[in-house]
Amino acid sequence: METFADDDIVSPKLYADESRLHEMFAQLRARDPIHWTEPSEYRPFWAITRQQDILEIETASDIFLAGQRNRLFTKEEERRVRERTGQASILRSLPTLDAPDHRKYRAIFQEWFAPGNLKKLEARVREIVDERLAHVASLGGTFDFVNEVSLWVPLQTIMMIFGVPFEDGDRLHRLSAQLFNPYDPDTARKTEGHGTAEAAQELFEYFKVHLDSRRANPRDDLLSIIAHATVDGKPIDEKDALSNAVTVFVGGHDTTSATISGGLNALLTHPDCFAALHAGSVEVAPAVEEMLRYVSPVRGFMRVASRDYKIGGKIIREGDAVLLFYPSGNRDESVYEDPNRFRLDRGRFTHLAFGCGPHMCLGQMLARLELRAFYTRFFQRVRSAELAGPTSWLESNFLGGPKKMPVKIQLS
Ligand code: HEM
Repeated sequence: METFADDDIVSPKLYADESRLHEMFAQLRARDPIHWTEPSEYRPFWAITRQQDILEIETASDIFLAGQRNRLFTKEEERRVRERTGQASILRSLPTLDAPDHRKYRAIFQEWFAPGNLKKLEARVREIVDERLAHVASLGGTFDFVNEVSLWVPLQTIMMIFGVPFEDGDRLHRLSAQLFNPYDPDTARKTEGHGTAEAAQELFEYFKVHLDSRRANPRDDLLSIIAHATVDGKPIDEKDALSNAVTVFVGGHDTTSATISGGLNALLTHPDCFAALHAGSVEVAPAVEEMLRYVSPVRGFMRVASRDYKIGGKIIREGDAVLLFYPSGNRDESVYEDPNRFRLDRGRFTHLAFGCGPHMCLGQMLARLELRAFYTRFFQRVRSAELAGPTSWLESNFLGGPKKMPVKIQLS
């Protein structure tokens, strides 16, 4: 049996190999589910791999704070970010805020992402899906599902919500990937270091132009809400507006794309499930939940303990960081039967793909709407689908999913 070292726990390359990654998580859950991890290029942290411990820590949000360290970066990248921005994290936005500010800033977005408002977007999301499927039909045969399909549906949806032109799609996709996947050689910014601060700066410049225009001429889009947002009765400052715009935009598409493509990969490697959806003998909505559990594209967020805390026989000391591994919690054998198998007969279940606690994904209802819209239309039109070559996965310890996925698909 392969054994894993602390450097493996953070290795972007390991995250590109789903079966080794899940073997490592299974070993951690079995042997040391709250594991003190000292990788050579990263500051140490506790690796939290069981579902119940992740839930406990995230819910204790008065003790485990997000502000000091919330994402896994190398020591070198942390130094560069501090040097370039003067602060510990690139963006001062929802994921890095704690109470009471977190609640106040989250309230800015709450109405937009509420089910009632999302319902109004449904028809437009379906149009985006239909256009993409028409494009697939025109390709007639074998193509890369990621670059032709899955990246575009969530990207165009979030661009529609932000009210920015579809022509900017390639550029915004490239910058988002640089920010989220700085360790994958195919997506990283070609610069000294990993370039996350530079990618964020370019996104700031892009959104600043649009925010300024919404301040002068508000429209019916999310950027107008951000441009006119107030906290404690005062307009939010420029840096907060830009940081939150970038966070919601970037958080809002590659995650969902990864679930669309990772979900299809799961279906094509579990033909019984594909056949059940194709025949209409199972519903799309619960299948989407299994895709979220199984793909779990967000690998983990971090928190820092504000006081000593006892959990699972260990003491997490004040100032220690924890890394909450959602994909591991989603394959926890004490919660799911046969966790490494993609199954559509689980009945009702919960999962951690969107995290939990006060930071639980703001866009989860939108993500579900897109995933359901895509798979509903896809199964109405698909005649046959198969993998047409090996899938390659992102080398990323933050956001995973397929990078290239050759498929052969026939639509009616
Ligand atoms: C399948 C798609 C998605 C997945 C798997 C996902 C996953 C996550 C996870 C794991 C978190 C952290 C939760 C925590 O700390 O407990 C998160 C937070 C967040 N997500 Fe998503 N997300 C998805 C789609 C979206 C979409 C569509 C949007 C917006 C358009 C979005 C915006 C955000 C924001 C703004 C946060 C920070 C929330 C906060 O700190 O209060 N996400 N997401």
